[in-house]
Amino acid sequence: MFPIHRPRRLRQTPQMRRLVSETVLTANDFIYPLFATTGEGIALEVKSMPGVYQLSIDKIVDEAKEVRDLGIPGIILFGLPESKDTEATGAWHDHGIVQKAATAIKEAVPDLLIVADTCLCEYTNHGHCGYLQTGDLTGRVLNDPTLGLLQKTAVSQVKAGVDIIAPSGMMDGFVQAIRQGLDEAGYSDTPILSYTAKYASAYYGPFRDAADSTPQFGDRRTYQMDPGNAREALKEVELDVLEGADMLMVKPALSYLDIIWRIKEMTNLPVAAYNVSGEYSMIKAAALNGWIDEKRVTLETLTSFKRAGADIILTYHAKDAVRWLAEG
Ligand code: PBG
Ligand code: ZN
Repeated sequence: MFPIHRPRRLRQTPQMRRLVSETVLTANDFIYPLFATTGEGIALEVKSMPGVYQLSIDKIVDEAKEVRDLGIPGIILFGLPESKDTEATGAWHDHGIVQKAATAIKEAVPDLLIVADTCLCEYTNHGHCGYLQTGDLTGRVLNDPTLGLLQKTAVSQVKAGVDIIAPSGMMDGFVQAIRQGLDEAGYSDTPILSYTAKYASAYYGPFRDAADSTPQFGDRRTYQMDPGNAREALKEVELDVLEGADMLMVKPALSYLDIIWRIKEMTNLPVAAYNVSGEYSMIKAAALNGWIDEKRVTLETLTSFKRAGADIILTYHAKDAVRWLAEG
């Protein structure tokens, strides 16, 4: 019996394959993460993330130009403050490191979107994403008192030049609180990209080196989600939509393709996937050993996020990916 249906008919030449390809990555899909640090002339490579640097403001401006020139629409900023305290002062201060970086980038590269990660863990002396009860050694962040700090942080970031606010602390009601804070400050046109389904993941390990944000005690499991839970992510989506989120993010990406898919099925808001530090470092480490082909593995991975339903991909591989896509 010969088969009548022959899917291989459509795979015979590159042109035929191009004609029927379902998922095409472009530079428009990406947001590139950058880490701002104090000082001048500083470009400090993160040990666990080859190719990723902590950059002083002069250097981050150069980097932002390069990102823009590659056709990538935006960056997401993280900050390494000079000092940390219980109030996360560095997060919301008008002269905080992210505020200064945003202002400098906006001035030099106005046609690049600046997303700010709006969280406190890089700025608190204990490394948690919000206020703790005095003496607490478990990391049970106080939800409602934290919301006020997040509002202040978001407003000062937008004032400094940030275009999109991306709250990442998984506090209940944070989208609503930030929306209200922004509206009251006259920033009702600034969108919120919520880290809607952010899991308590070991894949953030290298990022915590990069951003110096490792919790000093306890862990983030009282606010980030249990990796086994999927319906809970949909609950978070319902709430973020009601609270006024403009875009929804799933994080990490690679182990959570089912979550990206389910969220995409359920909402018409743009969905973002955060291809996190550990996912980047695994590919880098294997590639540096000569065990895998970095270009092919990376493009396959990024394609899988888009195929699963991601409209936006935050990735440390963004610059490489654009260059590789141009090579064909
Ligand atoms: C801050 C934040 C983290 C990441 C993005 N924003 C770290 C964390 O939650 O511990 C992780 C990004 C990455 O691993 O690349 N809340
Ligand atoms: Zn945080």
